[in-house]
Amino acid sequence: MGFFNKEKFKFGKLHKYNFMNKSNSIRSYLPDTRLATKANISSMLRSYRTIFLKPDEGAGGQGIYKLTKIGNKYILISGTVRKQYNSLDALYNLHHRWFVKYKYVAQKGIELLKYNKRPFDIRVMVQKNKSRQLEVTGIIGRLAKQGRIVTNYHSGGTPLPVETLLSPHLKGTRRTEYIHKMEQIGKQACIVLERIYRSRKAFGADIAIDSKMRPWILEVNTKPDTKIFRALKDKTMYKRVMRYKNLY
Ligand SMILES: Nc1ncnc2c1ncn2[C@@H]1O[C@H](COP(=O)(O)OP(=O)(O)O)[C@@H](O)[C@H]1O
Ligand SMILES: [Mg+2]
Repeated sequence: MGFFNKEKFKFGKLHKYNFMNKSNSIRSYLPDTRLATKANISSMLRSYRTIFLKPDEGAGGQGIYKLTKIGNKYILISGTVRKQYNSLDALYNLHHRWFVKYKYVAQKGIELLKYNKRPFDIRVMVQKNKSRQLEVTGIIGRLAKQGRIVTNYHSGGTPLPVETLLSPHLKGTRRTEYIHKMEQIGKQACIVLERIYRSRKAFGADIAIDSKMRPWILEVNTKPDTKIFRALKDKTMYKRVMRYKNLY
């Protein structure tokens, strides 16, 4: 059983990114992601003001760093701790063992849209129906805890309806259409990733929106949390997600 049980198959963030990046339909939504070597970090910081560093197999927002280069200074934030370094060598010397041990990846930083001055992003839940077709069963916003760089529920993020979080940025039918677009992008990413996760029944795409309202797929999960939907006052989505989860 075990060896052939594909459910046990697990790829890290970098492998998933490299695989999805081959797909023309979603490549433009994927922020540049590379192994966090010193050369890659250095070259990415020449193109992007900020990069995010994350463990290849991390979850729940754990072990995530935000690295910003301001002038000649390197600012590294994790949790609520902020450290400043005078050179990339100084930073890398202190952290590279940790980066190697957990196979850190570096990703172009997206300046997340804010709600009440706190960053938020979106989770699109995609599940297989009775005929094994992928369907969007839920979409939810996650608002970062005060002063945090991650939005994860497990790191103190607050689940909220996407309509609420988008309300200061988009009104009426434009908002409805935008939410529909997010669902389609999330679904397409899950359809692509399913090709290397044939036996998974549920996927969850994490989508960030930048200040120009451009969507970016941060990652796609193959074991998406369902409890997050229970946190919404309106239980319609939660019920649908649970119904699909127990289909077969
Ligand atoms: N490139 C990025 N730009 C901006 N924020 C990011 C970026 N990558 C991650 N984050 C923040 O960190 C959170 C966790 O990152 P994610 O890649 O989803 O890892 P995890 O597996 O820990 O959930 C995201 O939901 C988002 O809030
Ligand atoms: Mg995530």
